[in-house]
Parts: sequence; structure tokens; C-alpha cells
Amino acid sequence: MRYVITEYDEQERARLSALAEITDPYTFYQLDRLGLSPDWHCLEVGAGIGTVSLWLAERLDKGGDVLCTDLQTTFIDEIDHPRITTERLDITEPPTHTERFDLVVVRSVYHHVPDRELALRHLGAMLRPGGHLLMIEPDVHPIFSDPHPVWRRAWQAYFQWAGRKGIDPYTGQRAPNQLADFGLRVVSVEGETRLFNGAAGDNPARDLYRQTLHIILPELVAKGFLPQADSDEIDALLDRPGAWLMSPCFIATHAVKPAVAG
Ligand SMILES: C[S@@+](CC[C@H](N)C(=O)[O-])C[C@H]1O[C@@H](n2cnc3c(N)ncnc32)[C@H](O)[C@@H]1O
Repeated sequence: MRYVITEYDEQERARLSALAEITDPYTFYQLDRLGLSPDWHCLEVGAGIGTVSLWLAERLDKGGDVLCTDLQTTFIDEIDHPRITTERLDITEPPTHTERFDLVVVRSVYHHVPDRELALRHLGAMLRPGGHLLMIEPDVHPIFSDPHPVWRRAWQAYFQWAGRKGIDPYTGQRAPNQLADFGLRVVSVEGETRLFNGAAGDNPARDLYRQTLHIILPELVAKGFLPQADSDEIDALLDRPGAWLMSPCFIATHAVKPAVAG
């Protein structure tokens, strides 16, 4: 399985922590709304550091549990909770758990998977009939109205790079139709877009985008997608408190697997 991150080290842990800090509140709001029941069997796919699984586990009892999975279990293996089991799961491989889960949560994973149709087939197979899927995926559309030209150019370069890696930067807005085409009933689609600036101190959005860009900017420059001068300017922009930058919109799609197929 191809994934752009290959090192699951302390730097990646910090990046995933920043991602969790900015997306957890909205994810928990979405989970609260879908009517979670304490006896549910839940699955998190591509859990990263597992904050969503931990939140779910605290709301379960009466036999409810969470299977917390990732392609690489380095971080989730540290979780010690009586209602959480951890397991390696590659969403591109045939599932070993079928029609088992009342809830499957996928956040910021699906857009990385080049064969999204295959991933969807596997996600659908793991849901029990009547089960819920919450998919929260980024969509870059807000960035193209950002007032900072260099920020727009950097994301344009990301587009070219992502296209070659099989990453879809418009996954957030495409997911609802992809889920519906697959036979799931789409219940709701909502997005959250954050603007952030370079203010000093605790600033998880700035940290997330700085760390993510530091991973990919050298390649964007090396491949000729972005001039070196732009790459240098981005570093300065990310430190400027007065520059409010658009982040991708995280689009949450809640869908249900029909109780009777078809
Ligand atoms: C951007 S991180 C998101 C982590 C977490 N879901 C969150 O939102 O905080 C993407 C995660 O997906 C995992 N991943 C990538 N490809 C995967 C695949 N084919 N199957 C399962 N997980 C995968 C990575 O290991 C990584 O932990």
C-alpha cells in the first residue's frame, strides 16, 4: 500500500496531534449528532494517534467497543483502554471483519487512497446493514479564494504533486456522491473551514500546515511545481500574525448502509 508518509516518528506524532486538535471538536459534534448508542461496535480506519477512538470509547458501555486501526499501528498500540482493541488495517486489502460495525469513522484518510472505489467497497462491507459511516475529508476549494497569491500558488503546486500520487484534493466534496453511487443513503453533508495566522504560541493549525508543507515543499520545488522563492516566502507568511490563511474545508458526510441491500 502506497502512503506518502513513511516515517511514524515523533515529528509525525506532533503533526497528527495538531491535526487532531483542530479537527476533533468538529468530529465530536458530528458524532454526537448521529445518535451514538452505548452498545455500538465501532471501527476507526486510519486512526493516526487515536483521539476519535478514545472519545468514542468513553461514550460506550453495555458491550460497546471500538476497533482502532491504522496502516501503521506505532501510535495506536500505546492506547490502553478496556473498550479499545487496536489492529493493523489497510483499507485497500480485503476486510477480515464483514457486516460487523454499527459505526465506521474515517477522517482524513480516504483522499490518500489512490483506489478510492476499492476502499469504499471495503468500508461498505464492514458496516452492518443499517450501520453508520462518518467520513470527514479535506477539500481544497476555499484556498483558491485566499487573498495571498503565494499561498494559492503553493496549493496549486500541491495539486500537481497530489495528482501524480493519486491523492484527490477535492475528496471532501466528491465523497457524498461517491457514497451515494455505492448504494449508501447520505444523511447529511457539512463542512468546517478554518482560517489561521502565524501568531506565536499554541497554534495547532499553523503547526499542522507548517509541518505538512515542510514535508512536501522540497519535492514541489525539486519537481519544478513551485519556485524556491515561493517556498521561502511561505515560511515567512506562516509566521505573520496579520496574515489570515484559508485552510482546506473538512467536509463531513454521514451516510447509512440500507438495511436491505439495493
Ligand atoms: C492524515 S492521517 C489522519 C489520521 C487521523 N484519522 C486523524 O484525522 O487524526 C492519515 C492516516 O491514514 C493512515 N492510512 C494511510 N493509508 C491507509 C490505508 N490504505 N489504510 C488504512 N490507513 C491508512 C495513515 O497511516 C495515517 O495514520
